[in-house]
Amino acid sequence: MNNKLLVVEDDPGLQSQIRWCFEDFDVLLANDRVSAIQQVKRHKPAVVTLDLSLPPDEESTSEGFAALEQILEIDPNIKIIVVTGQEERVNAVKAIGLGAYDFYSKPFEPEVIQLIVNRAFRLLELQSDNLRLQSTETHEPFNGIIACSPQMQSLCKAVEKVAPSDATVLLLGESGTGKELCAKGLHTLGSNSEGHFVAINCAAIPEALLESELFGHEKGAFTGANKQTIGKIEYADGGTLFLDEMGDLPFTLQAKLLRFLQERVIERLGGHKPIPVNVRVVCATHQNLREKIEKGEFREDLFYRISEIPLEIPPLRHREGDIIILARHFFEQYNHDHGRKLRGFTKDALSSMESYAWPGNVRELQNRIKRAVIMTDGKQLSPMDLELDKTSAETMNFNLRDIREKVERQAILRALSHSNGKVAPAAELLGVSRPTLYDLIKKLNISV
Ligand SMILES: Nc1ncnc2c1ncn2[C@@H]1O[C@H](COP(=O)(O)OP(=O)(O)OP(=O)(O)O)[C@@H](O)[C@H]1O
Ligand SMILES: [Mg+2]
Repeated sequence: MNNKLLVVEDDPGLQSQIRWCFEDFDVLLANDRVSAIQQVKRHKPAVVTLDLSLPPDEESTSEGFAALEQILEIDPNIKIIVVTGQEERVNAVKAIGLGAYDFYSKPFEPEVIQLIVNRAFRLLELQSDNLRLQSTETHEPFNGIIACSPQMQSLCKAVEKVAPSDATVLLLGESGTGKELCAKGLHTLGSNSEGHFVAINCAAIPEALLESELFGHEKGAFTGANKQTIGKIEYADGGTLFLDEMGDLPFTLQAKLLRFLQERVIERLGGHKPIPVNVRVVCATHQNLREKIEKGEFREDLFYRISEIPLEIPPLRHREGDIIILARHFFEQYNHDHGRKLRGFTKDALSSMESYAWPGNVRELQNRIKRAVIMTDGKQLSPMDLELDKTSAETMNFNLRDIREKVERQAILRALSHSNGKVAPAAELLGVSRPTLYDLIKKLNISV
């Protein structure tokens, strides 16, 4: 087992602290990029901690990033833990995108860095046993959901909070944002997790079949009903029922579903016996139900019944930092599954992914990376492999609302940091009233 840890750090004080922390390992030291590369070539360490601000220019991270890329070029399997200043999340995320294994933010805390380094060694051990673990594990609150951005973190907290209750949850979000994943999270963390998670897509089943699919039928209930069949609702008894694409539920069935939600009993088609069912109900839609209500296509009473707790899943383009972390996650998965030995993304690929609008959200990202990993002829994925053209107008986000929101968000965050998080002075700086600022904070999901 390779026990070598290379510490790339120019501060002598920190160097000795780190060395002292890792007495169990074979610790090597380097002060700058050039000596780091020499050490890597000579000693082949298994794990490297790399301070991103290296001499000669400690103000910038260019030497650190260059070292990261060169080390991975020599050996893509080395686990690199980048060390950044406190305010440099962006750099940490970028480093992960380029292939770093994890990051650690100063100030120096022995327990934390020991934990990260030990985990890296342990992971190598497991990998050499041909066991696969995902390095992104720490970012997964539940069910394999990856959520680093503040937007998704607060969504995950909300999911964790409502899961144990029996409230009916309505998940709202564009297609591919992870509605089904959240529904499963609600199930897993809920009190009915022993039961089944039963999903039914209201848009995918013809109206004539949907009723029996939901409620089941008795033998002889209609032509062709040659045996008794249990419906999805009954099957979910004791578990969770996920009604997907709720906006497409035919009007005639809406009343029937409402009755079930109110009384919690069903009758199979052709049956006359009410059957009590205890299920947790989660609904999802990408449509605007209020608009459908106005057009008379969706029952208002049903809407209120299903949206006891509405949760909005933000589109991928509004999740700060998540694009790269997710990209890296899918990259590792497919690189492994397809037995390829690719080295991650080029810098251009990272920036093209960040500036693209992702109308198909996480699903689109996943598909593009899968395709690129399978098809590429290179060692690193380029914008071309991802079929993203950095300069093409299509990939730029021209949506005025998105741009406005982004600028508003930046201005508000800046004003709030000037005012130490106090709303009244921030409102003054921004030239708006306090209630207006509160509304904006709520709308843009900013945490104060
Ligand atoms: N935060 C996330 N972390 C990891 N994987 C994710 C995340 N969000 C979505 N995915 C993956 O993206 C794909 C789409 O997610 P999901 O099916 O939950 O989206 P959806 O909102 O239900 O989409 P649709 O509206 O198209 O039905 C799935 O393969 C899912 O595993
Ligand atoms: Mg779905």
